[in-house]
Amino acid sequence: MSAPSKFQLSGLVSAHPTLEESVHLINMTESSITPRSIKELGLTVPTDLPLEHGREKGLKGICGMLAKRYDVDVDEILLTVGASSGIYFVQTALLNPGDHLVIMRPNYPLNIEGAQTTGCEISCVDIEFSNGFRVDVDKIAAAVRPETKLISICNPNNPVGTVMSTEELQKLADVAKKNNCFLLVDETYGELLYDGQMPTAAKLGPHVIGVSSMSKTWGVSGLRVGWITTTNKQLMDTFVAAKQIVSITAGVLDETLCEQILAKAEDLHPPIIAELRRRRDIVDNWVKSESDMLEWIPPVAGATAFIRMKKDPPGGEAAFYERLRRVQKIAVIPGRCFEQSDEFFRLGFGYPPAEQVERGLEGISKALRG
Ligand SMILES: Cc1ncc(COP(=O)(O)O)c(C=O)c1O
Repeated sequence: MSAPSKFQLSGLVSAHPTLEESVHLINMTESSITPRSIKELGLTVPTDLPLEHGREKGLKGICGMLAKRYDVDVDEILLTVGASSGIYFVQTALLNPGDHLVIMRPNYPLNIEGAQTTGCEISCVDIEFSNGFRVDVDKIAAAVRPETKLISICNPNNPVGTVMSTEELQKLADVAKKNNCFLLVDETYGELLYDGQMPTAAKLGPHVIGVSSMSKTWGVSGLRVGWITTTNKQLMDTFVAAKQIVSITAGVLDETLCEQILAKAEDLHPPIIAELRRRRDIVDNWVKSESDMLEWIPPVAGATAFIRMKKDPPGGEAAFYERLRRVQKIAVIPGRCFEQSDEFFRLGFGYPPAEQVERGLEGISKALRG
């Protein structure tokens, strides 16, 4: 019997070095800030916490904090095992064979790959470098069909780090409403905006679903806590059922530690943003110094950028990636992992320890020259 082919991953997963390989590399493949430990974050492991399933939607303490941050009701938050499972619940709950999905690209690849497993039809709408990676809402509207069930975007965008304006997002929510479809906004990087704050898209109406996570903002992707936000009670009930079927809860210890992080958010958050801006500026200066070879749209959120090689490096793109990994010992994600040309690479500038960022950029410069 041949193996079932329902689950197929793009190259994204294999482009990430393993933990063992990481030790010997400057790892610029990741999209979160530098990972934090329990000690660094000053968390306390509660030894008297009953290790039971906990509350079905997630412990009241953390759900209440998230609800307050988003100005929604506590029952409009559902904790999930990372944003990944939240996204998958939305996709599998809403999409069936014969349905149609319109999705922005480039995107976090699992947003596309998860949807593929439902057997729905998919139309990808590309954001273009030549247009500053701006989302063209009219282009998305033009891709909608009568059988479109869901429009899916990643805002702030992974990999490019751009953000839709409030007006653009409202316009997109209106397009979804007019066409009787849902809008999924993956807002995993929503708290990594360099200027200002982003409200959850779920506030735009009961047809809009927000998904987010603790992973990237706080550098705690090993605590598997994400969440779905929706003001639509019927949808919420469906997602709760999906969660029950897949994981029952998201893990009381993880939820408790995340609650402690959110309790300190006001102190922890400003230095995180300041550090990301500092690194973004370092990368900006570097791209300017390499302007014969490179160009970019400077990100306004998140810890990644999608950098474009203006001309072929010696030996071509494949030779560049090979030199970078094998000779310079630096890992980035080639554009093909985002269904884009390899003239782009995603640079995770937020993840490596601070002292490695400039060394990483110097190594890329060397690999660009052969
Ligand atoms: C846009 C986006 N959404 C969701 C995820 C999944 O994150 P997690 O499951 O760790 O919350 C990622 C991880 O890279 C991401 O970049």
